[in-house]
Amino acid sequence: MESNQNPAFITVFLLDPQNGLCVWKKMLEPASDQIPVIKVHDLTKRFGAIVAVDHIGFTVNKGEILGLLGPNGAGKTTTIQLLLGLTTPTSGRIMILGLDLGKQRRNILAKVNFSSAEIHLPSNLTVWENLNVFGKLYGVRQPQKSVKNLLDFFGISNTLHTRTGMLSTGQITRLNLAKALINDPEVLFLDEPTASLDPEIASRVRQMLLQIRKEREMTIIYTSHNMNEVEMMCDRILFMLRGRIVLEGTPEDIKHRTMVNSLEDLFITIARNGMLKDSVTQDQ
Ligand SMILES: Nc1ncnc2c1ncn2[C@@H]1O[C@H](COP(=O)(O)OP(=O)(O)OP(=O)(O)O)[C@@H](O)[C@H]1O
Ligand SMILES: [Mg+2]
Repeated sequence: MESNQNPAFITVFLLDPQNGLCVWKKMLEPASDQIPVIKVHDLTKRFGAIVAVDHIGFTVNKGEILGLLGPNGAGKTTTIQLLLGLTTPTSGRIMILGLDLGKQRRNILAKVNFSSAEIHLPSNLTVWENLNVFGKLYGVRQPQKSVKNLLDFFGISNTLHTRTGMLSTGQITRLNLAKALINDPEVLFLDEPTASLDPEIASRVRQMLLQIRKEREMTIIYTSHNMNEVEMMCDRILFMLRGRIVLEGTPEDIKHRTMVNSLEDLFITIARNGMLKDSVTQDQ
């Protein structure tokens, strides 16, 4: 079976102050025999001399929330853009919902959606006009009803006829999330979805996303720099550094294996020391 043809392994060397060098090696395939919703094989993206994504491979199962972590410039957004077909890979292969993104992009994108602060909706259109356009693009049957439900859900129904350019940053973030759910996607990519939200709204958004995932068994790839949030939201984590995946596992598993108290400590250690430089191998 295809998912067993190229098992990806990752070897990580971490410095443990008490016991010296600590080494672990793990197969990147999740322990499951179900066909993954997302399968990335040996994916690379170069921008001239910059290698933004460097031979990464991973899978995501149905209903799983996978966290993509890593310092600024690690390659998280580029990975999401590659998975959305917004940028072309230099090399490698992406399968989503059993289809090859390189060959069946349109079929895949109908079942996928995303939220990113880097995508700006036209500011001269109202909230309703913007969402209606996306509703039509995705062939939503009753856009008015869907828009109303989504705006209620995210607590911004009072902005229905407001021009998008007049919204606060947090309102735009929630509008982006409403846009991301308009086609009831099977796969959702969320690039820092709570970055500009106040703590109360961020908490509400997290609960909503967990609720939607549970109800619809949505598969989600999630990036965040908030490590508490990552622990709350993500079933599994891929830690990226300089375009490579250097750590993979459940938050608990990772903390246990690397002997740290929190993901925040781990993040700071890896980002600061760059200790994984030249010590990570992915045999794909
Ligand atoms: N369009 C582009 N042209 C040139 N270089 C790019 C482009 N997009 C990204 N890069 C570079 O690729 C690398 C990865 O960037 P990316 O945006 O994927 O990082 P990130 O992990 O999302 O970071 P952040 O946490 O800051 O959002 C960076 O070195 C960045 O400068
Ligand atoms: Mg980014």
